[in-house]
Amino acid sequence: MSPQPQAAVGAPLSRVDGRLKVTGQARYAAESDVDGAVHAVIVDASIGRGRVTGVDTDDAEAVPGVLRVIHHGNAPTLPYRDNSSGSNNLPGRKLRVFQDDRVLFHGQPVAVVVATTLEAAQHGASLVKVRYDAERPTTDLAEGEPGEPTRYARGDVAAGLRDADVRLDLTYRLARNHHNPMEPHATIARWDGNRLTVWDKTQWVPGTQLELSTVFGVPLDSVRVINPYVGGGFGSGLRCWPHTVVAALAARVTGRPVKLVLTRRQMYFGTGFRPSYDYRLSLGGDRNGRLVAADHRIDAETSSYETFTEAVMTPGQMLYSTPGVRQAYRTVPLDVHTPIWMRGPGAATGVFVVESAMDELAHELGIDPIELRRRNEPAQDPSDNAPFSTRRLLECYTVGAREFGWQRRKPKPRSTRDGDWLIGMGMAAGVYHTAVSPAQSRARLNADGTAVIECATSDMGPGTYTSQTQVAADALGLAVRAVDFRLGDSRYPPTPPHGGSQTMASVGSATLDVCDQLRRQAIRLAVEDEESPLHGVSPDDIVVRGGRLHVQGNPARGESYQRLLTRNGRARLEADTSFTPPRGERFSISGYSATFTEVAVDATLGLVRVRRMLSVYDAGRIISPKLADSQAIGGMVGGIGQALLEHTVTDHRDGRIVNANLADYLVPVNADIPDLRAIYLDGEDYDADPLGVKGLAELVICGVAPALANAVFNATGRRVRELPITAEALL
Ligand code: MOS
Repeated sequence: MSPQPQAAVGAPLSRVDGRLKVTGQARYAAESDVDGAVHAVIVDASIGRGRVTGVDTDDAEAVPGVLRVIHHGNAPTLPYRDNSSGSNNLPGRKLRVFQDDRVLFHGQPVAVVVATTLEAAQHGASLVKVRYDAERPTTDLAEGEPGEPTRYARGDVAAGLRDADVRLDLTYRLARNHHNPMEPHATIARWDGNRLTVWDKTQWVPGTQLELSTVFGVPLDSVRVINPYVGGGFGSGLRCWPHTVVAALAARVTGRPVKLVLTRRQMYFGTGFRPSYDYRLSLGGDRNGRLVAADHRIDAETSSYETFTEAVMTPGQMLYSTPGVRQAYRTVPLDVHTPIWMRGPGAATGVFVVESAMDELAHELGIDPIELRRRNEPAQDPSDNAPFSTRRLLECYTVGAREFGWQRRKPKPRSTRDGDWLIGMGMAAGVYHTAVSPAQSRARLNADGTAVIECATSDMGPGTYTSQTQVAADALGLAVRAVDFRLGDSRYPPTPPHGGSQTMASVGSATLDVCDQLRRQAIRLAVEDEESPLHGVSPDDIVVRGGRLHVQGNPARGESYQRLLTRNGRARLEADTSFTPPRGERFSISGYSATFTEVAVDATLGLVRVRRMLSVYDAGRIISPKLADSQAIGGMVGGIGQALLEHTVTDHRDGRIVNANLADYLVPVNADIPDLRAIYLDGEDYDADPLGVKGLAELVICGVAPALANAVFNATGRRVRELPITAEALL
């Protein structure tokens, strides 16, 4: 079969939905026009644990415009059936809104006020008096009771650590982080009889559909979830949270469509977070810089009612060939709401620890950090001996070191000054496991030479509309503007969660397949049609370009889709697909990166300024270079936040988050961000998926924080093992 010419894939296309977004025509969940919608405001618990002993609603109900105050004392019983969607059914028992009097965490919804105007609902909510029987919550990771560990082991760790020439015993503490997408979570819910429609901010349209159908006990196809635009997510939209159920419940009780928008403050205890970690690592190496053993003891917070885990163990198992590795990962139930994946989930934490420790070992041994990593580069995945599909980490180091000017780094800490500033360079490797999941799609090629592709995925910002359009355009041989890629509606074929770096590999493979099918249908139609100039040509010799089918190498012999379909009386061709990841030889498939950075630390004030940063990625094929750069820059910015700024602070007396706003929860702003540069190693990985991509979205943050911590050490001689690295820690 002649390969289709690739015109759109690899081109630095601007976003196909960019104009709609910058002109305000893209409607986000809360902006949808729903006739007769009334407003709901959640009243959230002001204690960290205990019981609701009474809800006084009289004053609230007296506010003109208030329709109803709903709480556990008057809410209907909801079925809350189990379902098979992972993130909505973690081990434990999910929070069931208004079904009992228990308060499990500060900020839990305890009532909702529904009113004809937002102002009346807000005023009403301020007048609801909730009485509590309060208990002292446990919200400090150090005070909780850990559960049973998940374990991994290979080799003899005890002997390895005993006999090691150099042994490091290190304790790392990572702060809780919140996603803070620009768009707050919001839901508009409407019941039409027993049919529920929600406009909801979510990264998983089919997951939210399934969850709502089981919570309310209605058939799956009675629930429709609509979500064409998402203003950022970072993982906070990867499950259906209680407020979405509250909106649907309020709509059911009042018989009106209900709009519910979380406040920025409510986003801090309503939509998950990156859990805090206490991570102890003992690392042993020989004098030649060969790792001999590593012992990882990992504690992370979860809620008292659900057990959330993430792939924090993976980097410690497979980044380096270490004969002895032992890991124990325990979750610690606290009186908090349930965490969720956030920006490089698990890996960003594990990589921080492993890559910080590698820098310490390099320093102890007097070996260059890159050279130390080279000496421990495995030939196959050390966790299970699977061959790597592709692993070009050494190339990432070589290219990065050259482009960054690594040879100018002085190994001795605190040896470069620029006025008041101490200057340092650091680097770190990064890894993120490539996920590929089943995904469905359908498409039609119209007689006017345009195509429509539909599936239920989301676009939270990576540019899914655009990158999928590029894949479709090339597979169909159409111009980008002739392709209409539609997403964000549960009426479209189901797709996996829009997260975990898997959308391009999964949805992209479905798009490729469904468009390949359409093209082949058209080619078959042409070769069988006696009136076609392509009649009798072998289908394998035909390509499509600019909407015109022609013989490969002979553009003159051919005709357009339009002509072909019209002559054959076909209004359209249709196809659908159910993509399943290929099950061939089992490979270890991951994206890899090397990040280099230079920081300046004020010698007197301890302020850290990032001067420059470069990341080199082995992420397989790059479909959309401009979007990839946006992802890479976003990942570096997120990593700078994780390393230097982001920290959710809890008052352990009552479980209140004290910095639940964007003034006190620090995220990087433009003034914090220097020149950032991304380089992609050319190449594809067809063992990963038919598109040859390994995923970029999560990879881009993994390795940024340790590179910064290592640069801070090189600048100051101070080894900070707590995130974020604050000025206080450097004084
Ligand atoms: Mo990403 S943390 O899976 O949205």
